[in-house]
Amino acid sequence: MRAMTVVPGKADSAAVSEVAEPPSTDGSILVEGVLAGICGTDHELVGGHFGTGRSGTDRLVIGHESLGRVLEPAAGFRVGDLVTGIVRRPDPVPCPACARGEWDFCRNGQYTERGITGMDGYGSERWRIDPYYAVPVPAELGLLGVLVEPASILTKAWDQVDQVAARSWFQPEHVLVTGAGPIGLLAALIAAQRGYTVHVLDRATEGPKPRLVRDLGGQYLTDLSELDVAPDVVIEATGAGQVVVDSARLLPPGGVMCLTGIAPGPASIEVQLDALVRQLVVRNAVLVGSVNAAKRHYADAVDVLLAADPAWLGRLITRTVPLSNWTSGLVRDPADIKVVVDLQA
Ligand code: BGC
Repeated sequence: MRAMTVVPGKADSAAVSEVAEPPSTDGSILVEGVLAGICGTDHELVGGHFGTGRSGTDRLVIGHESLGRVLEPAAGFRVGDLVTGIVRRPDPVPCPACARGEWDFCRNGQYTERGITGMDGYGSERWRIDPYYAVPVPAELGLLGVLVEPASILTKAWDQVDQVAARSWFQPEHVLVTGAGPIGLLAALIAAQRGYTVHVLDRATEGPKPRLVRDLGGQYLTDLSELDVAPDVVIEATGAGQVVVDSARLLPPGGVMCLTGIAPGPASIEVQLDALVRQLVVRNAVLVGSVNAAKRHYADAVDVLLAADPAWLGRLITRTVPLSNWTSGLVRDPADIKVVVDLQA
């Protein structure tokens, strides 16, 4: 069967490869791949900066934002049911966090991730999955089910904000989201669903992003100076040091900023850290990093998508490329938000 592959650690090795059918050790559910989303992590894998393959093979099947259709009945799943696969698997020790299902908080770093580290992903014509890691996607979501995994990154991020918020009285009103890619827009969607006033910062002055933000009832900013309120919560999705520091400075007393993005390349900025530290301390402000997601965050993500306007969600998927030419989806177009690969084309 055909699959989206890279040679881990080798830049520009992305290809369509013939690979073996998925082994039964991957799980009892056989799935026909429908869509795989491409994200920043995939660009890093393609750039050779990141990733390890399944042992004994030199190519890694990538694709961790998945949507598939069950091909054979198994474990309560029926033929034709839509599923998405959880990305991370607990480390083998396991560490205390992984032992209680919190693999997203793995303490020893020996976890594996499908399509990223140590395990083949979901970017193939067929894949298998263990029922525990298969998330049912309601039929009404249809192809939008490919957004469950990226949305799980944000339901986890918002969970972090809520956990921090529980320390004292906290009633957020204004939420700043930095970055209007898929992660930032899904963060803004959740903020709007929660009834907060949403402000989204992005460099783009054209393309679909401003409208998408305004259709959530949010304010679209291309410069932080346009923000005339203090954001109680910041969801940071650019990973750009300057944006992080500038936004952190805006946090009011009790403010919370969740960092969800990392910058692709090495960069350095001059920061007067002592001044920033003083400000964070006297304001009880919190910067919290967040990566990956536990099983419950996927269920929350399904609920977020079900509650959203499907037409708005559909506008996040700006391009679909066929598996036969999936590498064309790696060429960045300024109008792109989420590019997905049609695994049967
Ligand atoms: C994925 C996460 C993963 C992270 C680091 C992200 O793109 O969505 O599930 O933990 O990359 O590998």
